[in-house]
Amino acid sequence: MARIGGLDARMTGPVVTVASLKGGSGKTTLACCLAVHWQLKGLRPLLVDADPQRSATRLAEREAALGGVALLEEADPGVWQAIKARRAGHGITIVDTPGFDSEITVAALAVADLVLIPVKASPLDVDRMMDTVKTLMSGVKGWAPTFRCVLTQTTPGSVIARHVRADLAESGFPLLAADMTNRVAYAEAALYGATPSLTAAEGPAAREIAAIADEAEALLSTKKALTA
Ligand SMILES: Nc1ncnc2c1ncn2[C@@H]1O[C@H](COP(=O)(O)OP(=O)(O)OP(=O)(O)O)[C@@H](O)[C@H]1O
Ligand SMILES: [Mg+2]
Repeated sequence: MARIGGLDARMTGPVVTVASLKGGSGKTTLACCLAVHWQLKGLRPLLVDADPQRSATRLAEREAALGGVALLEEADPGVWQAIKARRAGHGITIVDTPGFDSEITVAALAVADLVLIPVKASPLDVDRMMDTVKTLMSGVKGWAPTFRCVLTQTTPGSVIARHVRADLAESGFPLLAADMTNRVAYAEAALYGATPSLTAAEGPAAREIAAIADEAEALLSTKKALTA
């Protein structure tokens, strides 16, 4: 059984909720990629599909079954209770949420130790992301979970990615250092119900997912240290 940073496959691990009110921003892709990454690391993750569209569940029904990640399908505002009941024995829980304003998303945020908000590097998407943060965080009564934006579908070295990164930093929206760049490897892996960590473990897409996971682990262990 694996121990990674502050995370331990034998313990009830933290909850990472992937949320954004912008459809198609890359929530399901990021949630599934992280779940498979942590599965390969031996953390026994639980992937929760809280989206009535069932995108993550449908991926898990394909050939590679997301590498055998444990899946909980619960697209209901009671998702927080389902998570509390099922998370024991999983070193980390990752929640994929719907791409619209919903009670389900608010419930998934209420149990989150860390919220990741994927955002495409374009001004329209950034504006919508800022709405996301305001709406979502105001829905969680009395407690604001740690959140980080993750730039997705970026073109490495592009002017727009740099610009958006600077804009977000200036507006006080914390951003992970690692991006999820625009790569066909994500969709190609999804054809088989896989992610790049399964199809090309040493490839660039798998490496960028590992970098995002490392940052998430560091944030979760700091938080643990602060709250312990
Ligand atoms: N980094 C990436 N590079 C290339 N394509 C990507 C990347 N991330 C996501 N995609 C593609 O973009 C599309 C939308 O991604 P995804 O389904 O993950 O978004 P979503 O936020 O979950 O959408 P929804 O709001 O509908 O649930 C998919 O076709 C996916 O394969
Ligand atoms: Mg989705």
